[in-house]
Amino acid sequence: MLDLLITHATLPDGRSDMSVAVQDGRITEVSQGLSAAAHEVVDAQGLLLSPPFVDAHFHMDAALSYGLPRVNQSGTLLEGIALWGELKPLLTQEALVERALAYCDWAVAKGLLAVRSHVDVCDPRLLAVQALLEVKQRVAPYLDLQLVAFPQDGVLRSPGALEQLQRALAMGVDVVGGIPHFERTMAEGAASVKLLCELAAEQGRMVDMHCDESDDPLSRHIETLAFETQRLGLQGRVTGSHLTSMHSMDNYYVSKLLPLMAEAQVHAVANPLINITLQGRHDSYPKRRGMTRVPELMAQGVTVAFGHDCVMDPWYSLGSADMLEVAHMGLHVAQMTSQTAMRQCFDAVTVNPARILKLQGYGLEAGCHADFVLLQARDPVEAIRLRATRLKVFRRGKLVAQTPPATATLHLAARPGSTAFMYR
Ligand code: FE2
Repeated sequence: MLDLLITHATLPDGRSDMSVAVQDGRITEVSQGLSAAAHEVVDAQGLLLSPPFVDAHFHMDAALSYGLPRVNQSGTLLEGIALWGELKPLLTQEALVERALAYCDWAVAKGLLAVRSHVDVCDPRLLAVQALLEVKQRVAPYLDLQLVAFPQDGVLRSPGALEQLQRALAMGVDVVGGIPHFERTMAEGAASVKLLCELAAEQGRMVDMHCDESDDPLSRHIETLAFETQRLGLQGRVTGSHLTSMHSMDNYYVSKLLPLMAEAQVHAVANPLINITLQGRHDSYPKRRGMTRVPELMAQGVTVAFGHDCVMDPWYSLGSADMLEVAHMGLHVAQMTSQTAMRQCFDAVTVNPARILKLQGYGLEAGCHADFVLLQARDPVEAIRLRATRLKVFRRGKLVAQTPPATATLHLAARPGSTAFMYR
């Protein structure tokens, strides 16, 4: 007897009337019209069953700290970094853990079951590192938390940062981070990329750098990152996050850069909610959107994900762990409005980030973990359009969250008899 059987589901690739059989936390079969005895049967009624959402770029140490100790007045990245610097001495491990756990609750409710979070290592106490390592362990039964050792104030610019970054890795942080555009000069930025990639190669680790997060068309750290990836044999294990300068770069230069990134199998993460609000702040009109060239990167064969980046922190006052909101913004900013492109936006918050994080057993296939989300939508485009309700969220075949369907009841004198309807 099966543990769980989902019936009449539509899958993201368009297959309908699909059944998903689950035993011992794994998917044992995915086929059309399967009927078998199961302890629990869920009739999906034609709605979309998706693998869980994955966030490839987040800052869980800063999440839910909005207003502490004050609000970002200019709305710029640089004031956000300064504000985070003011908040850091006031942090306690208990408060960090509490906020991160609260965010993980939001995430699970929204079907977001894997997050790559950067954690600031520019603190001799490594308080945030200790806190997020504790959180990683505590949420492991229901959420995969991958941590990046992130030298927020610059690995070369900030005294002690390299030693602290290495200590964070030794303590259990997974991935090597960096922020070349925040080093003192372009040359120091390039040196930081080389140094950090060499460290990752020595230790067999993945790399995820905040890279070229500016409107400077001459910021070239992604070129160095692709070069170092190639030189050190790190293909497929390196991610460039943000890459907003690419928005403003010369088109000829980009036509050379994109094939170099594809050749090095460097992944890209755009953070549409944050890019559209932080970038272009020094422009009058027209104001640049500042997001990297998502459809062009995808057309070149680069794996691109959309990340949430921030939720209620020194850089961004909104957000709710809803990766469909992230995909919705990414779709608009990148003008990815064809049917194919809208589906690519759904992939950018599911399968693409799963590939970037190298998640094992992710997907809706026999042998994969029984992790999935039943959405109140019939296909990925409708899911994005409605930021669809996550009716049921499963982890290892067990229900971990549910939300009642979104309905409205009308009371219109001009339309007697009109009653409740579901959003479609
Ligand atoms: Fe970030």
